[in-house]
Amino acid sequence: MARYTFRLNGRSVTVDAWDPAQPLLYALRGPLALHGPKFGCGLGQCGACTVLVDRTATRSCTLPVSHAASRDITTLEGLGTPAALHPVQQAFIDCQAAQCGYCLNGMIVSTVALLRRIPRPTPAQVRAALAHNLCRCGAHLEILQAVQRAAALMAERAADERAVERTAEPDIERAAEAATEPALPVVEPARALLTEDTAARCHAAPSRA
Ligand code: FES
Ligand code: FES
Repeated sequence: MARYTFRLNGRSVTVDAWDPAQPLLYALRGPLALHGPKFGCGLGQCGACTVLVDRTATRSCTLPVSHAASRDITTLEGLGTPAALHPVQQAFIDCQAAQCGYCLNGMIVSTVALLRRIPRPTPAQVRAALAHNLCRCGAHLEILQAVQRAAALMAERAADERAVERTAEPDIERAAEAATEPALPVVEPARALLTEDTAARCHAAPSRA
């Protein structure tokens, strides 16, 4: 029996397989006990089993486990946690983009791959990226809205991170001025109200462009 070692959600794992052509999906759902990737068609046609191989969305039902050796595999479980969701997971919840949920693994993992390549995709680019992820429940409209919301959430997060970096930079001139000027009374800025209307954002229908 051959052994295959790869990185799975950030840690090194080893699986045994009699057949090097055994689908990676079987190893993930069997000995590795992950249930994010789903078995749908088993033929590479529905997308339910999608994982990231390095940074590429890949059908794990047709990828031989031997081809995963030494690669970096990320499943739905590796994107976020219930306490700290990935923005794409958060967006799908915000937009209630599911009925039975069986397709969501593939939809979310494919969306993560898309937004890494194209941070602000057009509706046409979203449809092209998810064209081969099937949803039998017909939740397509909400899924398209969730992808656009995910792009917005990721842009907001990136802007917040840049703002934190800027405020963390040492401002030598201001420090020198502060050392010579008398201290002014501190005035608390008004706290911004959270007025975000998540439902309204999600339910703004994507254009047909
Ligand atoms: S189960 Fe892999 S594409 Fe359908
Ligand atoms: S929500 Fe049921 S298959 Fe997509």
